[in-house]
Amino acid sequence: MLLLGVVVLLAGAPAPALAASGKGLLQGSHASRGQLPKSCRSCHMGMTMALSGEEAVCLACHGDAQARNQMVGKGVLRMAGNASFADIAAELRKPYRHPTLTVQGVHQKFEVLPEQVVNAARHAECVDCHNPHLTEKGRPYRGLKGRRVGNFTGEIEQEYQLCYRCHSESANLPGTSTDKHAEFKVSNPSYHPVEGEGKNTYVISLKEPYVAKKERPGDVSTISCSDCHGSDNPNGPAGPHGSNFAGLLKLNYQMEDGRPESSFSYELCYKCHDRTSILNNESFPYHALHIQGRVAGQGGASCIACHDAHGSSQYQFLIRFDEQVVFETRDGKRKFDAEGYAARHGACYLNCHGVEHNPLKY
Ligand code: HEC
Ligand code: HEC
Ligand code: HEC
Ligand code: HEC
Ligand code: HEC
Ligand code: HEC
Ligand code: HEC
Repeated sequence: MLLLGVVVLLAGAPAPALAASGKGLLQGSHASRGQLPKSCRSCHMGMTMALSGEEAVCLACHGDAQARNQMVGKGVLRMAGNASFADIAAELRKPYRHPTLTVQGVHQKFEVLPEQVVNAARHAECVDCHNPHLTEKGRPYRGLKGRRVGNFTGEIEQEYQLCYRCHSESANLPGTSTDKHAEFKVSNPSYHPVEGEGKNTYVISLKEPYVAKKERPGDVSTISCSDCHGSDNPNGPAGPHGSNFAGLLKLNYQMEDGRPESSFSYELCYKCHDRTSILNNESFPYHALHIQGRVAGQGGASCIACHDAHGSSQYQFLIRFDEQVVFETRDGKRKFDAEGYAARHGACYLNCHGVEHNPLKY
């Protein structure tokens, strides 16, 4: 079926048979004849019509305005109705980004992700996240296959399933990276509620509309990767293409130790967790002491010293100590004992800034 498509494309003018099969092949945004009057030839241009899956073909319309105007000039693109275009290339040139522009020649047609070859080069082309034949408004990853479960690879329905194509059980995960499904899975003691609602029903700092458990319409009890990851420009295009903030985050998150606290320094967390509640110690009684430091203005610990923004396979409250800042006690312990939700009591065994906690209780 697919190969037949290529043959007929190569043969020049599409036969009536292709017109019919082509109609089925191309659906969604790119099937709009009003906007893409040349249909298949909007993308399959040139001598061979075969495409490598690299980004250039997409950026002719989804890059800068100059390139797009050329497409309009050539009659390949018609700016109809309320079509909106953002410069995705500019996002991908930001300091923290997917390596779409920088990695060439790695993506393979018909490749299967997650990757199973340990030393395979890592990549992320537009077509790894968007199927150009099927992408649709509101469903930009329609038509892509997700992680295999048993013998079955299901169609992607949730955004996180798209990310797990490369950030979960990929054999070629970089050493600095972790399996995101292992962090978010709902059997963990704690996790941010991406795959399902959270375990803790007493998260006192949550701001409207965020809640631990959905009870009323309008309540938001689950979040997505792109609530945190995406463009630093609030009016920029949706999606985790690139950002000026470290971690490819939408908002600033200070990850270094010993820096002063401000509404900007942890603005990512304060989007959903009330800064006043945190600094007034409504949950952990020593939040302010740690976050602001002993002497106001001098600096304290980042949330990341104690919390993992994704989840914790070991402890409640997203506790996962940053081992670059938090060391073992003299007798080799680094652990957290929780007493449970709303108890506001627990104990830490660790050494931080030379202060031995063995344990320190709260
Ligand atoms: C919006 C751009 C776009 C449009 C429109 C489009 N294609 Fe494609 N097509 C691509 C890209 C990009 C690939 C390569 C995908 C990859 O490498 O994973 C591709 C791959 C294919 C393939 C797989 C084999 C190959 O050579 O890559 C066939 C067959 C195909 N397209 C046929 C068609 C037909 C027929 C139409 C019109 C009905 C069409 N395409 C419209 C972008 C497009
Ligand atoms: C000839 C111009 C053109 C080319 C080339 C092109 N697109 Fe598009 N694309 C469009 C138009 C038109 C829309 C609809 C925009 C709107 O209505 O707001 C669109 C929408 C999209 C969307 C937004 C989600 C949606 O469906 O509304 C995605 C994602 C997308 N394209 C990906 C790609 C990828 C990936 C490629 C390269 C394989 C590509 N496009 C190539 C014209 C193009
Ligand atoms: C086709 C593969 C692929 C998919 C799908 C994918 N990524 Fe990535 N991602 C990469 C690669 C490659 C890198 C570069 C670092 C590496 O190799 O992990 C990366 C890096 C990142 C980074 C770190 C960027 C930085 O500068 O610190 C974040 C955050 C990220 N991806 C989030 C996501 C999210 C969220 C999704 C789903 C919406 C997603 N990714 C989907 C391949 C992918
Ligand atoms: C509550 C906010 C939040 C959510 C939701 C979130 N992330 Fe992150 N993510 C972060 C922060 C903060 C960092 C940087 C610190 C770190 O590495 O832990 C990060 C780092 C990353 C990195 C780079 C580090 C690495 O391990 O490779 C990737 C990739 C990533 N996230 C993928 C995802 C994916 C995939 C999802 C959804 C399944 C997701 N994130 C959901 C906040 C979030
Ligand atoms: C790592 C995965 C990934 C890569 C690589 C990627 N995108 Fe996206 N893109 C997304 C996700 C996820 C969304 C937004 C989903 C949503 O609507 O929340 C998105 C959204 C978009 C949109 C719609 C923006 C809007 O505001 O509606 C366009 C257009 C688009 N991408 C084009 C591209 C093009 C062109 C490329 C390559 C140059 C590309 N993307 C590369 C994941 C990716
Ligand atoms: C988009 C909204 C959003 C952002 C951004 C966000 N959170 Fe959360 N967070 C939530 C929600 C919703 C819950 C409730 C989950 C539950 O019920 O267990 C939660 C719960 C938590 C919990 C308690 C989890 C448990 O199981 O006890 C901690 C700790 C936490 N967040 C820390 C952070 C930190 C640190 C950041 C910044 C890196 C952050 N959050 C950013 C929405 C968010
Ligand atoms: C020194 C370690 C430490 C640091 C630094 C820290 N926390 Fe916590 N946090 C904890 C502990 C321990 C708990 C669990 C308290 C309990 O037993 O209820 C907690 C609980 C939470 C909770 C869940 C209860 C609630 O308040 O809703 C949130 C959210 C949270 N922290 C956010 C943050 C944010 C945001 C930062 C950075 C601005 C931060 N924490 C910095 C140790 C820390």
